[in-house]
Amino acid sequence: MAAPCFLGVDVGTSAVKAILVAAGGEVLASAVTPLQLSTPFPGWAEQDPESWWQASIASIRTVLAAVPRASVAAVGISGQMHSSVFLDAAGDVIRPALLWCDGRTTAECREITERVGGEARLRDLASNPALEGFTLPKILWLRNHEPAAFARLATVLLAKDFIRFRLTSVLATEPSDASATLMYDTAHQRWSTEVLDAVGLPHSIVPTVGGSADVLGTVTLRASRLTGLAVGTPVVGGGADNACGAAGVGAIGPGEAVTSWGTSGTVLAPTARPHVDPRMRVHTFCHVAPGTWYLMGVVLSAGGAFAWFRDQLARDLSAAGEANERLDAEAATIARGANGVTFLPYLQGERTPHRDASMRGAFVGLSLAHSRAHLTRAVLEGICFALRDSVSILEELGVAPTSMLLTGGGAKSAFVRRLQSEVFGLPVGTVNREEGPAYGAALLAAVGAGAYPDLASAAAAMLTRGPLEHPAPGAHAEYDRPYRRFRESYHAAHVSADPVT
Ligand code: XUL
Repeated sequence: MAAPCFLGVDVGTSAVKAILVAAGGEVLASAVTPLQLSTPFPGWAEQDPESWWQASIASIRTVLAAVPRASVAAVGISGQMHSSVFLDAAGDVIRPALLWCDGRTTAECREITERVGGEARLRDLASNPALEGFTLPKILWLRNHEPAAFARLATVLLAKDFIRFRLTSVLATEPSDASATLMYDTAHQRWSTEVLDAVGLPHSIVPTVGGSADVLGTVTLRASRLTGLAVGTPVVGGGADNACGAAGVGAIGPGEAVTSWGTSGTVLAPTARPHVDPRMRVHTFCHVAPGTWYLMGVVLSAGGAFAWFRDQLARDLSAAGEANERLDAEAATIARGANGVTFLPYLQGERTPHRDASMRGAFVGLSLAHSRAHLTRAVLEGICFALRDSVSILEELGVAPTSMLLTGGGAKSAFVRRLQSEVFGLPVGTVNREEGPAYGAALLAAVGAGAYPDLASAAAAMLTRGPLEHPAPGAHAEYDRPYRRFRESYHAAHVSADPVT
């Protein structure tokens, strides 16, 4: 008989990834199906949930085909946070989802804050401010701008919950994604009737909440035919991609910190209670381990800014393949500080620390003496400086990391690992699995299937940490001036009060 394994699926912004993981932690198969991002106006970002489902089917079928004797004991799904799937009463998608990096809802954020009774009240109710990327402002945008679509709206789901809905026909979510909607009482772990009432939305609009590692549904006959998964395969709650990414490198309890580069970049630190930044520059959300929360700073364009630079300004390398490695090698020829060039990675506005959807990216300090290699170095340094802003806020809040786990794109390159270590002034570490949020989702599936009693034991059994990599002596201090220059250049990113023009 085939040994049981666990399927982890991650619905990202650039791709849907599926992995099959053995009970001992080994990755048996992995598949990535790319996604397109639609940006109809600067600052807007949409995707069709149907494209997530088709990409999920493709990735799941590929990993199942690679391991024909796989016996999938449970499925875990993680996904991009906040992005709004609008469903009608029949469960059909009404319009494309507004994504976590969509900045069109500034007026709705103001509306929410006013209706709730001010930002301090919102902080008490939801532990977070109204930010354009969050789910609730997107629902009010639909009500204000597309009333016919809003009239059809029956349920709002998050990305990974939509995939579970298609797999199981069950409408549900779990605390890590619910807490990132602005409709959830993050501290008390229940939907906030106060917020829903204040903004005038029916409570029926949000799904029921189960545990991240609890089985919330089983694969239907229809989904079985499409994906190749056996009818009745359990599907657990899963989690928000950042929470699953942290779980996927074993950052589950207080004392840990992890920096992730996906399209966004995040710095996340688990906490034993719902710790809230008085200035709300970092978010407070529920973790995928019960009774645990986390603080997180978000850079909206990290890997996304690098990919933009590579695809727009280094097409020669993209065409030749291995563009990331070649760009790293180019950047490594330039000294720390990029010879005075500063890059502001705010291509899609910014959350931490600015909370400003209308910011835009910039190169500052260019001269005829600079080459693309300087720009490449400046882009990578700018992303690290933006992440350092979040590390500094965590330190200020008394959650100072002593080392930093790295995951995602920034963990793969030795050059970018060293850059992060030197810019943060911290030793950095990785684990033996590079699968990111999909791996955390597979760990939750392993717990849900009963293979491990809880997430911490699953992570301890299935992951191994590598040795810490330390910054070169004096390197952190060498970044003091460039980092100051970066902060002094913020004003260059304030180009427009209107994110659409
Ligand atoms: C977190 C956030 C992003 C997305 C990326 O608040 O908006 O990191 O989760 O998928």
